[in-house]
Amino acid sequence: VHRYRAFPPIELPDRTWPSQTITHAPRWLSTDLRDGNQALIDPMTPVRKRRMFDLLVRMGYQEIEVGFPSASETEFEFIRSLIEGDLIPDNVTISVLTQAREDLIERTTQALTGAKRANIHLYNAVAPLFRRVVFQGTRDEVRAIATRGTELVMKHAEQNMQGTEFGYQYSPEIFTGAELEFSAEVCEAVMDVWQPEEGREIILNLPATVEMATPNTYADQIEWFSRNISRREHVAISLHPHNDRGTAVAATELGLMAGADRVEGCLFGHGERTGNVDLVTLGMNLFSQGVDPQIDFSDIDEVRRTVEYCTNLPVHPRHPYAGDLVYTAFSGSHQDAIKKGLEDLDRQAAEQGKPVAEIPWEAPYLPIDPHDVGRSYEAVIRVNSQSGKGGVAYILKSEHQLDLPRRLQIEFSRVIQTLSEGDAGEIDGATIWTTFQREYLER
Ligand code: KIV
Ligand code: ZN
Repeated sequence: VHRYRAFPPIELPDRTWPSQTITHAPRWLSTDLRDGNQALIDPMTPVRKRRMFDLLVRMGYQEIEVGFPSASETEFEFIRSLIEGDLIPDNVTISVLTQAREDLIERTTQALTGAKRANIHLYNAVAPLFRRVVFQGTRDEVRAIATRGTELVMKHAEQNMQGTEFGYQYSPEIFTGAELEFSAEVCEAVMDVWQPEEGREIILNLPATVEMATPNTYADQIEWFSRNISRREHVAISLHPHNDRGTAVAATELGLMAGADRVEGCLFGHGERTGNVDLVTLGMNLFSQGVDPQIDFSDIDEVRRTVEYCTNLPVHPRHPYAGDLVYTAFSGSHQDAIKKGLEDLDRQAAEQGKPVAEIPWEAPYLPIDPHDVGRSYEAVIRVNSQSGKGGVAYILKSEHQLDLPRRLQIEFSRVIQTLSEGDAGEIDGATIWTTFQREYLER
């Protein structure tokens, strides 16, 4: 059951400043198999790549960057196996990355031969640091690499991708560190070659290759670009935030409010260095504000297990929405408040004669109903030395239908607290029950 409403809308008093919210899901692209994979200690084998691809398809991602086919034989062969095995659903567009060299572009288009729908994603560095230090190239040379690359993509796609519904994406690299006017100038030159028009869009992907400033700065850059680029109606403005300052999610959300159409990221924020923006947090943030992310997070543990298997890296136990600990409460006051909140939902359900799942979610300390992501209330309350009476009482009630009077709750929670202050640490439900039996039922 998806209720799409967690906290009620936030009312701001005397609002006199402009404000925005995100009202619909953006277009998503998962780059787990490209940016994500390239940054793994233990890169995915073809079997693990396939598991990741199938997961992304099941979750509903319709644009998936599947690799960098000219970079290695393994990358090339994986893409061939998807196409030749007819494993790409009709509603999914695969995307592949290339640099602007002709041999690489030719190989890229060969990897895509026979695909039903595919995007070629070309990038080159436009930022001054790269022009000066890495390539020693002038602005004119940088612009020429981008336009020549676009011409070569069109030429080789024509030769090798007959019958493919073929789209094009261009990224001016380190958009966040480049002069805005120059990035726009290069993108305009690329568009002059590609000639976007009705039914022939171009994706202009504006990467925060390195996150260099506060999130509002990225949003300002996106807004400026969106307002100043020509042929805007045929351009999909795409965000590709990395997380160097730990604010990629915020930067993406502000970037969407500033006019972007599309977001590239990875599940649980895999990707170079601190990672790409985390698609799970972004999607669930929308969900928790009442906006359908168009992605299925209803079995978050399955998503997490699969990603952990494919990446060979653990998801942090406090990862938003998905970590082991995010639906637990350790402190007594939190446990007590949650217990009251859950009881209140039960009471509303009884009063209205409805299943509790149909009552709008509102519970202290739990921004979403854990059931919405396939987690359960039973795991919410854990008892340790910091818990008060609420947690212990909740476990006895939910697991053994025992509604303790308040005095007994206080008395028994002291027994449990003493136990957990010894060596026992965290006390599980079974121990609470055997202790209760020993103290009160077997005397
Ligand atoms: O971070 C980046 O700039 C990239 C580009 C290839 C888009 O991954
Ligand atoms: Zn990247």
